[in-house]
Amino acid sequence: MQSKVRILYVGDIMGEVGLRLIEKELSGLRHKHAISMVIAQSENVTDGRGCSPADFNRLKKAGIDFCTGGNWSLWQKDLFPILSDPAQPIIRPANYPDGTPGLGYKYIDSGFGKILVISLLGKTVGRDSQLKLKNPLITIDEILDAQKSVDKVGTVVNFHGDYSSEKVVIGQYLNGRVSAVIGDHWHVPTADARILSAGTAHITDVGMVGALNASLGVKTALIIDRWRNDKVNRNLLEEDKPWQFNGLIFDVDISSGKALSVEQLNILYD
Ligand SMILES: [Fe+2]
Repeated sequence: MQSKVRILYVGDIMGEVGLRLIEKELSGLRHKHAISMVIAQSENVTDGRGCSPADFNRLKKAGIDFCTGGNWSLWQKDLFPILSDPAQPIIRPANYPDGTPGLGYKYIDSGFGKILVISLLGKTVGRDSQLKLKNPLITIDEILDAQKSVDKVGTVVNFHGDYSSEKVVIGQYLNGRVSAVIGDHWHVPTADARILSAGTAHITDVGMVGALNASLGVKTALIIDRWRNDKVNRNLLEEDKPWQFNGLIFDVDISSGKALSVEQLNILYD
């Protein structure tokens, strides 16, 4: 009997380019790497702002089993009923204040047992939020404590944050308590994927899916104009190739919930 579940976590899927790349490439990658379950950051799917119900359905159809959330998660208001439904595999950050639409953690059946998936927003990126964020470390302690008696084979924590120190420290903080802590939001993959000393897979930032020659997916010229000339302009997403597909593959031992292996996936499509 198989004793591990192999999970692919996909970095921020940026707009239509990212979504189309997922639709084209994900099933082949699933097969090639013998992936059991795919979790993806969905907060930038719909033109960079949130995830519409229609795009959520496209992600599921393309083979994404579960969607995590970030600072754009609450932008598409018609997603709220889906975010609030425990049976729908999509979450928003868990440390928004009580009463915020949606749920910050949900379970998914991996085929080997239940996996708990949680999203947290870092304090730095959350500083500009109109909602007063709860402390992410206290929030995760409360969630893990409340869920400790639930029978599960693993726990995956997504940390959507800005400061490198926050994103490193959250891994250390949860080392040995969860299967993986995966940072995102930068859209730039870091080269530090590893298994921490007590068996937690960690990466500071997993990267993104979308255009490479861009400012995190946005057309570079717009950002330079804003930066160099104080121009007020709107983000438009880059569509031209090359495109990048960044993710993290990790195996979880279903008897211990600890990570057995970790491997970065950084693919370019010219
Ligand atoms: Fe973000």
